Amino acid sequence: MTNNAQWSSRLGFILASAGSAIGLGAIWKFPFWAGANGGAAFIIPYIVFTFTIGLALVMAEVAIGRRGRGSVVSAMRRVGGRWFGTLGALGVLTSFFILSYYSVVGGWCVAYLWDAIQGNVTINDANLLKSHFGHLVSTPELNVFWHFVFLTLTCGTVALGVESGIERLSKYLMPTLFILMLAIIVRGLTLPGAWAGVEYLFNFSWDKVTSNAILNAMGFTFFSLSLGAGILVTYGSYLSDKTDVPNASLWVAVLAIQAALLAGLMIMPAVFAFGLEPNGGPGLVFVTVPMIFSHIPFGGVFALLFYICLLVAALTSAVSLLEVVTAYLQNEWHLSRKVATIVNWVSLFLLGSVSALSFGPWSGFTVSGRNFFDLLDYICSNYMMPLGGFAVAILAGWVAWPMMRQQITAVKPYSEAALSLLRIMIAFLAPILVAVAIYQGLFGG
Ligand code: PHE
Repeated sequence: MTNNAQWSSRLGFILASAGSAIGLGAIWKFPFWAGANGGAAFIIPYIVFTFTIGLALVMAEVAIGRRGRGSVVSAMRRVGGRWFGTLGALGVLTSFFILSYYSVVGGWCVAYLWDAIQGNVTINDANLLKSHFGHLVSTPELNVFWHFVFLTLTCGTVALGVESGIERLSKYLMPTLFILMLAIIVRGLTLPGAWAGVEYLFNFSWDKVTSNAILNAMGFTFFSLSLGAGILVTYGSYLSDKTDVPNASLWVAVLAIQAALLAGLMIMPAVFAFGLEPNGGPGLVFVTVPMIFSHIPFGGVFALLFYICLLVAALTSAVSLLEVVTAYLQNEWHLSRKVATIVNWVSLFLLGSVSALSFGPWSGFTVSGRNFFDLLDYICSNYMMPLGGFAVAILAGWVAWPMMRQQITAVKPYSEAALSLLRIMIAFLAPILVAVAIYQGLFGG
């Protein structure tokens, strides 16, 4: 089945893709991962990966989608044959897994928004804030309930179709998020002792660089650019032939990295100013940001706006994940959008609940120190997404390079040198780095 839906404009594509990229990854995950992996030792490789193999793979995914015009499975099959169709199914599975636990964190955002509506978030006591967060995640009914609410919002949006609702919403709320983050950054940076946080983020020292930090940085690059899960193939399939792929892809990468760095600057200075731990784990954003709100005039209003934006950022990403699975069920199983949504809703609720409960009653189940939630995230970010990226790299760099070349130069000519550089990145650098990283992760200890 061919897909004839299209974005209204180039901007529509960039907004939707940036909406997918900018989400909980940048705002919630990046600060605590940077904190856990030695600050700059994580951030510098992340930036380098983003502008090399990350950007190259964004272009490759979009090109495959635009050429294949279908769900990730049909697009990859059309461009590369049956086996690549099967590899596309890996992307569908990855998106499904990610959405299951992403929705749990999305639920925390709804819960905090609910708190903010009631004026409950401007508490000036780190311990109280920590125990508030701890209570939320470890109480099964609460955690599962908010996960359900977020998932319902996501499914509802996708059932209605993505373009007019979410696309329009993100057009207004993403810039608002940006301005709010700047305001919070200014307040955070002017707190006494805040500068230590900036140093922590950008002061690079070699002895903090470990193979683990690099592996995690690569995993995060995939996560933050929504790579290797079929997202950009699916979104690319709705892209007009008149849009220049390299230019649109560059926008997505720049916006994604900008959001993550701003989030780091929003959190880390405050972490140091309030004497919190930079490696505070998943609760970091939910504990530190409220601390800042309690230190600014109209903190309650800021809190409300902030959690609305956070929710929208999470929702636009969740919608993109669900769209991959939905497009697949429509294309390959000939389900209607409504039926596909119901199937997803039920199964994601069940799987996500396991993640939700892994902070409470099922926290005893761990594999090398990771609960179910962390384990799923670890497997998706560090193995499944890179593996998906690997398949895309082989397809675009080797099997279908003429197609890739044609897609890249369809609107604007690019020099031979630029094309060769791109090919080196896609055909050699990306597969080699991914293979090394996967090997390291599995056997490097
Ligand atoms: N990029 C999104 C974020 O940073 C998460 C995501 C990962 C979305 C993979 C789609 C696919 O929050």
